[in-house]
Amino acid sequence: MALSVVGFLLTLVCLSAASAPDCRELVQPYMPEEPEQLFGKWIYVMGAGDPVTYHKALEYMKSSWIELQPTSDNLTVTLRWGDYCFHRCIFGKVNATVSGLTATFRKNLSDHKGHLLQTCSDCLLWTDTFRNVDVTGRYIMQFTRTGKIHPTDVEHFRKQAECLNFPENYHSYDTTAELCPDKETKS
Ligand SMILES: *[C@@H]1O[C@H](CO)[C@@H](O)[C@H](O)[C@H]1NC(C)=O
Ligand SMILES: *[C@@H]1O[C@H](CO)[C@@H](O)[C@H](O)[C@H]1NC(C)=O
Ligand SMILES: *[C@@H]1O[C@H](CO)[C@@H](O)[C@H](O)[C@H]1NC(C)=O
Repeated sequence: MALSVVGFLLTLVCLSAASAPDCRELVQPYMPEEPEQLFGKWIYVMGAGDPVTYHKALEYMKSSWIELQPTSDNLTVTLRWGDYCFHRCIFGKVNATVSGLTATFRKNLSDHKGHLLQTCSDCLLWTDTFRNVDVTGRYIMQFTRTGKIHPTDVEHFRKQAECLNFPENYHSYDTTAELCPDKETKS
């Protein structure tokens, strides 16, 4: 009798593990052992937003780059960006505060709080929640060094976004769109 209870419990454990296929592994937070790996320029390739208005907003972003720079304070990272939206470039620069795996920053009146996820090599995968006055939402954004991404990594991203319940029709960067010029660093 005791044995059949154990058998029943084991079955339950196995079933619940099976019903969340690989999601637990797919959405592991990430922090490289050497933070230098994160510094420098990254180009946006794919993303999704939630709720749907923020998902749609990504469609207006024709291209985007970000740059992460260290500061003298090892818990502060400078984030710069160049977004091409509505036929113009929008540049910005903020300091992000790092605490454990979490980073927080304020971008255009929105308070973002998020972390990196495990992803392909030479890739950066960021997910956050943000609050702008009384509005909240979430984003997931995939960046790479080159702006290109391998199809198997696209598929991996799709599964990760699905595990986090983002809209399925993720948005892809228009590779024909030009990147905004970066006047601060010549690269
Ligand atoms: C930041 O630097 C201080 C001293 O410079 C050091 O004690 C601390 O461990 C560093 N923190 C991290 C997260 O590297
Ligand atoms: C970011 O922090 C650094 C050092 O703490 C400071 O010199 C710089 O002015 C800050 N930049 C912004 C955009 O707030
Ligand atoms: C901030 O967002 C508003 C609309 O939400 C937009 O009109 C404005 O251009 C943005 N400003 C910057 C600096 O991104």
